[in-house]
Amino acid sequence: MHKVETFDATTLAPHPKYDGHASGLNWSPFVEHADDTVHISYGVIEVLPGGETELTIQAHETGMYLLQGEIDVVRDGRLYRLVKGDFMLIPTGIEHAYRNAGTEAARWIEMCAPQPKAPDAWQDTWFAGQANWLDAPALINLEDRRDQMVGHYDYSQHTPPLTITPDLDGFSQRMMIDDVFGAVHFNMFVISFADGGICNHHDHAFEEAYYVLGGEVDIVFDGQEYLLKEGGFAWTGVGAQHAFFPRKGTPVHWLEIQAPQPPLREGVRFHRPWDNLSKVLNF
Ligand SMILES: [Fe+2]
Repeated sequence: MHKVETFDATTLAPHPKYDGHASGLNWSPFVEHADDTVHISYGVIEVLPGGETELTIQAHETGMYLLQGEIDVVRDGRLYRLVKGDFMLIPTGIEHAYRNAGTEAARWIEMCAPQPKAPDAWQDTWFAGQANWLDAPALINLEDRRDQMVGHYDYSQHTPPLTITPDLDGFSQRMMIDDVFGAVHFNMFVISFADGGICNHHDHAFEEAYYVLGGEVDIVFDGQEYLLKEGGFAWTGVGAQHAFFPRKGTPVHWLEIQAPQPPLREGVRFHRPWDNLSKVLNF
């Protein structure tokens, strides 16, 4: 199973989980409990200027990657101002709130796992009143060791493209959120491919979802061909065969998440070498 779609800002609408506990907060889910996914919720959150939430406690991890604007976050009593390219992990059960003190809508990719329940299902979200915004939120300072489980992504951070195998070529990965960072349910990173690279047909024992940050790429999911461009979402379920062929004359890079976190080995099962085994064995 898979899904391919393009982000459409007109689909942003009030988030039902925050009803009565937030102002100016909108949500455009790409995949969530109402879809075929069983592991994740992945989509865009928007907080309009002047909007804010109450302190929130949730029975799942949340990952954030800022696409535009600035958002103030209080997490476990510490205040941050996130800007485009910043990312943050909100661990399970940690009290947090959002506020937009700027003049532009703030938008970010939100990734949650284990998958949040439907609003009318088992309660996994609670509110604890207004946050204390009296301290001035500061930009992330990676030289300050108190700034944990936060970071900043920039395209210049990628290594030159690597040749790994005939099935994976022209590839660079900038890991952002993983077990080392502090997550236990998902990974979040940016994949960059040089034009002419390849990520050949493969599958996983976990789900993946993608959001294209720049460039475009031909993809083949479960045998169906698509063109994925900047602003395009895609999702592959457990066992879905998928491949990426960057051949549009431009590099491409996308934000990617995996949940549950991959096994220690055999995280990727490329199909070509297994298909070749049939030839080797004359089977
Ligand atoms: Fe994959």
